[in-house]
Amino acid sequence: MLISRAEAYAPASMANLGVGFDILGLALDSGGDTVCAEWSDTPGVTIASITGDDGRLPLDPTKNTAGIAALAVLRMADVDRGVSLRITKGLPLASGLGSSAASAVAGAVAVNALLGSPFQRSELLAACLEGEAAVSGYHADNVGPSLLGGILLITGVTPDSLFALPVPERLVFAIVTPGVAVPTAEARAVLPQTVSLKTMVHQTAYAARVVDALHTGAIRPLAAAMEADIVVEPARKHLMPRLDACRAAAKAAGAYGLVISGAGPTLAAICDDRAVADRVRVALMAVYDEAGLTCDARVASVHGRGAHVLSTQIEG
Ligand code: HSE
Repeated sequence: MLISRAEAYAPASMANLGVGFDILGLALDSGGDTVCAEWSDTPGVTIASITGDDGRLPLDPTKNTAGIAALAVLRMADVDRGVSLRITKGLPLASGLGSSAASAVAGAVAVNALLGSPFQRSELLAACLEGEAAVSGYHADNVGPSLLGGILLITGVTPDSLFALPVPERLVFAIVTPGVAVPTAEARAVLPQTVSLKTMVHQTAYAARVVDALHTGAIRPLAAAMEADIVVEPARKHLMPRLDACRAAAKAAGAYGLVISGAGPTLAAICDDRAVADRVRVALMAVYDEAGLTCDARVASVHGRGAHVLSTQIEG
């Protein structure tokens, strides 16, 4: 059975969960990218179109996260046929929602499906990482959850170094993205290169408390532990407009805490009830509105499934 076209979806993701810089991440069930792959007479990977990016992303496949990941899958499979990609961005760029990772993951999953799925999803991790690395560095805290779904502990860049953590049933986020872009490279450049032993102990302890709270399913202690970051948030705070005001407004509306999503500027308020999260969403929007800033806000839970094939078309 030869497949002529395959379309794949990869969800948004939230890296760090506050205190767990580069080692914790989760997939979100609101928003994602879609890539459609089909055979082409042009050798290698070509990008036929990108929609939803306002013309900002490169059509050059060697500079585009989806193109790089797609090429890597072709290389892994030792296939030298040409593939053409159509990319539909459902996520804002440089927003802290794993937009570049979602494109890389959707590109890899679509090409794998086009090839007749020779690889299991976890085997696509290296290809996805190669794509993501072009934009935001070689770390798996967005790519891993977007590919595999759920909440992950990330201890390295190979499939056996990713560990699925329990997803508390009531966990839900109010997520707000102000209309400013914070490129990951810039947000990483402001981080300290060394921390004191005392700081290391604090940060490790609270990251462990996040993992413990995920196991017990208790949302309030989870939020408190997530918020306990004393390394990354203080260094990045100046890049996130109105962070303190958003945290105060979110808590006043019933959230248990608020953290930066990934490298920002998206902020995520931690809640245990959808109706409350919706009130928090409105409160967060009001903060940006008062500041004269545009924003996009949503309520999202953890996406358990991760990336998947939406459709395939059989040749002939
Ligand atoms: N852990 C990464 C960071 C996520 O915060 O820089 C963004 O790629």
